[in-house]
Amino acid sequence: MALLDFDAPPDHYAVMGNPIHHSRSPQIHTLFAQQTGQRLYYDTIFVELGGLEQAIGNFYGSGGRGLNITVPFKEEAAALADSLSERASLAGAVNTLHFDSSGKIIGDNTDGAGLLQDLQHNLQQPLAAKRLLILGAGGAVRGILAPLLHCQPANITIANRSVGRAESLQQQFSAVKGHCDFQAGSFTQIEAAPYDLIINATAASLQGELPPLPAACVASHTLCYDLMYAPQPTPFMRWGEAQGAARAVDGLGMLVEQAAAAFAIWRGVMPQTAAVIAALRQP
Ligand SMILES: NC(=O)c1ccc[n+]([C@@H]2O[C@H](COP(=O)([O-])OP(=O)(O)OC[C@H]3O[C@@H](n4cnc5c(N)ncnc54)[C@H](OP(=O)(O)O)[C@@H]3O)[C@@H](O)[C@H]2O)c1
Repeated sequence: MALLDFDAPPDHYAVMGNPIHHSRSPQIHTLFAQQTGQRLYYDTIFVELGGLEQAIGNFYGSGGRGLNITVPFKEEAAALADSLSERASLAGAVNTLHFDSSGKIIGDNTDGAGLLQDLQHNLQQPLAAKRLLILGAGGAVRGILAPLLHCQPANITIANRSVGRAESLQQQFSAVKGHCDFQAGSFTQIEAAPYDLIINATAASLQGELPPLPAACVASHTLCYDLMYAPQPTPFMRWGEAQGAARAVDGLGMLVEQAAAAFAIWRGVMPQTAAVIAALRQP
């Protein structure tokens, strides 16, 4: 039996998205597997629009154990899952899937946990009673909003190019806002007063663009956090630095932390992240 187990192929995991070739998830999960002594391999799967259900079925049919789901499929994956964790259900978006013994699809969302771990633990950024500005109202914001609201900031403002999407998120998440002053609007409605934390969750940096922001929303204590990660500072990070922000950081830490939370769901062991973040920062 031991010989058979040793000869069995390693467990297969993957990330599905469109596009997907830039994903750093295979490198991250390979480092986690080496660190924790787990026998698995992890690759990327490009999925055509409209092809997610078939792709997940094919992956499970070929023995696949678990999936990450990225742009633009997180909301579709939530709809396809047979059951959702509470946080994925609240978000209406899924970034992590696995299968139970009968093949049912279980959906979870580790984006919020990953962001909080990076902000609070790695960057030592307090959130309680702070003023937060979130730019964007897409799938990523769906995953991070409830965990941020649970930290009881004084204020969260969501600003988005399409104002209706921001307003609909505000309505959807108002049940978990607690005592937080929770606002939504367009970029032009952003209050020109300092925020403690500005999170860029738009895809603008991907296009080399910057949402129109009042300079007065940055002060010397502000952390500017771009969910996007890149070898060079993003336009939003450069803007924050130019306005005199305390720090401007990218989302690589969140990427590694959300991956660690997914790895723990699949393998039952939480990997250490600091060395993996450092390895990915190497040029
Ligand atoms: N670090 C991590 O672990 C992590 C995790 C998740 C996501 N992300 C990153 O977060 C970003 C957003 O991802 P998502 O899944 O939320 O994407 P999404 O669902 O496609 O949403 C995109 C958002 O960006 C806005 N937007 C796009 N182009 C813009 C522009 N030129 N100017 C202003 N706003 C623009 C959209 O506004 P409209 O509603 O007006 O279209 C929407 O709010 C991406 O860069 C992604 O790589 C990082």
